[in-house]
Amino acid sequence: MPEQPRSEIVDRLFADLPQVHTELGNPEGGVWRTDRPCYEFIADHCEPRSRTLETGLGLSTMLFVLLGAEHTCVAPWTSEIDGLLLHCRERGIATDRLTLIQGFSDEVLPTLQPTELDLFFIDGGHGFPTPMLDWYYGAGRLRRGGMLVIDDIHLPAVQLLLDFLDVDPRWQCVGKTRKWAAYERRGEGTLREDHLGQGFLKRREQSERASD
Ligand SMILES: C[S@@+](CC[C@H](N)C(=O)[O-])C[C@H]1O[C@@H](n2cnc3c(N)ncnc32)[C@H](O)[C@@H]1O
Repeated sequence: MPEQPRSEIVDRLFADLPQVHTELGNPEGGVWRTDRPCYEFIADHCEPRSRTLETGLGLSTMLFVLLGAEHTCVAPWTSEIDGLLLHCRERGIATDRLTLIQGFSDEVLPTLQPTELDLFFIDGGHGFPTPMLDWYYGAGRLRRGGMLVIDDIHLPAVQLLLDFLDVDPRWQCVGKTRKWAAYERRGEGTLREDHLGQGFLKRREQSERASD
């Protein structure tokens, strides 16, 4: 059977929003979500054979399901997890390639098998240091050329993470709006590293001093 065009999958996503956050006091309605171009970016970089991970659950989780990715999602609340599964069940949408893990990402991510990822979406807890912890435990599993997508980049803790990524040559920004950003990984393996491997931070400090 020919694959459904990605734009049609995103259209289908927006035509039937999973109402999974009604109980969690979402002021924007029944599901937390980001801008459509972010989902289009994900759809363009994700195939049925892709292995993907995200922190936080929402419209994005539904997108990964519709794309047929082998997807893992970490989210803390039973109501959102049950809501998404019910939404799929009522429509006969298969979830056999979806793994939903209830918990906070700082506790769950270090326990996961370190299998290689094609795409990782950070959109769970947005308070310091959660985005950095998500990045450390999740993005270290990205293959070279894999995609890191980050939402809510206007928030202070997320901005701190971007400050680092934007000077590290092993992360190439390949998409950005005021709301979200995407980076291609130019390195591989664990993100555990001593300061000696981060000379680019020193160079930034020196150029800032020179401009004072
Ligand atoms: C903005 S919503 C995610 C929206 C979704 N990514 C989308 O684009 O449709 C934030 C999600 O993060 C979850 N969350 C909050 N704190 C978290 C944490 N520490 N670890 C994992 N998920 C968390 C919330 O329960 C919610 O599911």
